[in-house]
Amino acid sequence: MKHVPVLLKEVLEVIAPNDRGKYFDGTVGAGGHAEAILEKSTPRGLLAGTDLDENAIKKANQTLSRYKGRFYLFNSCYTEIGRICQSLGWKELDGILVDLGLSSMLLDDSPRGFSFKSEGPLDMRYSSKGEITAYDVVNKYPRERLTTIIRNYGEERFANRIATAIVKKRPLNTTTQLADIVSMAIPRHHWPRKIHPATRTFQAIRIEVNKELDRLKEFLNAASGLLRPGGVIAIISFHSMEDRIVKRFFREGYSEAGVTLRTIYKKPIRPNDRELAQNPRARSARLRAARRID
Ligand SMILES: C[S@@+](CC[C@H](N)C(=O)[O-])C[C@H]1O[C@@H](n2cnc3c(N)ncnc32)[C@H](O)[C@@H]1O
Repeated sequence: MKHVPVLLKEVLEVIAPNDRGKYFDGTVGAGGHAEAILEKSTPRGLLAGTDLDENAIKKANQTLSRYKGRFYLFNSCYTEIGRICQSLGWKELDGILVDLGLSSMLLDDSPRGFSFKSEGPLDMRYSSKGEITAYDVVNKYPRERLTTIIRNYGEERFANRIATAIVKKRPLNTTTQLADIVSMAIPRHHWPRKIHPATRTFQAIRIEVNKELDRLKEFLNAASGLLRPGGVIAIISFHSMEDRIVKRFFREGYSEAGVTLRTIYKKPIRPNDRELAQNPRARSARLRAARRID
């Protein structure tokens, strides 16, 4: 399935790329948002992008090929933003974007182990260099820790039952094995209507494997310190815990770098019905943005 960039029009409106600007896309993925930013900032706008997934970087290089000389891609974590800007000799950024979560590319790649729909190993790392895999979380974590992760990161009310069922059936090796055990642990009349019963547990394990919340906090501090006055940072999140982190950070209005930020929207921007009809992945997307005002 082709990856459709989420909330693209809204991202372009808020970042408002211009032809003298420097932009950073922390989760470049297939290059959808990056391509639109480069197009809008034609002929001289520059973009640096990171992605932990090597295949995403290859794909984005293809997508962006016609903007050769105006973009720089790095197979790294977005928390490397400071080092990357330094290596490019960029002191300040005009716009920063992060589109969190999973790409269709990763979801459709069964050997990466993100999907409960097709058989794959319990992996779920964005980067093949990641230290822990879903196998480690599922098979080695104590039951209590597993319960906390599934409850907090998955917002799953049956976390305790699910963790108990997993521990009982260990060792688990595949995504479909895990999906079946999770589904069976949830009483059938409580199965969610619109999503697979294992969706929340898979999300929780993925967040733990990739330390997504810690990385996001680290990134927000590092990134806002690099914004030029008037520059905008925009974050698309898919999970209420991520959204809360972003909301608080923007509300507090400053970062460790001593930068003053002002939230641009009172409420997060959600996709409209037309986008939802075309792109089901956008279902839980929320865009928040803040401007550096000092
Ligand atoms: C939703 S996709 C981005 C799609 C992209 N905006 C587009 O339009 O094609 C999210 C991407 O973020 C990457 N990712 C997740 N966590 C990351 C991190 N900490 N640093 C860099 N990339 C990350 C994933 O590998 C995935 O490719």
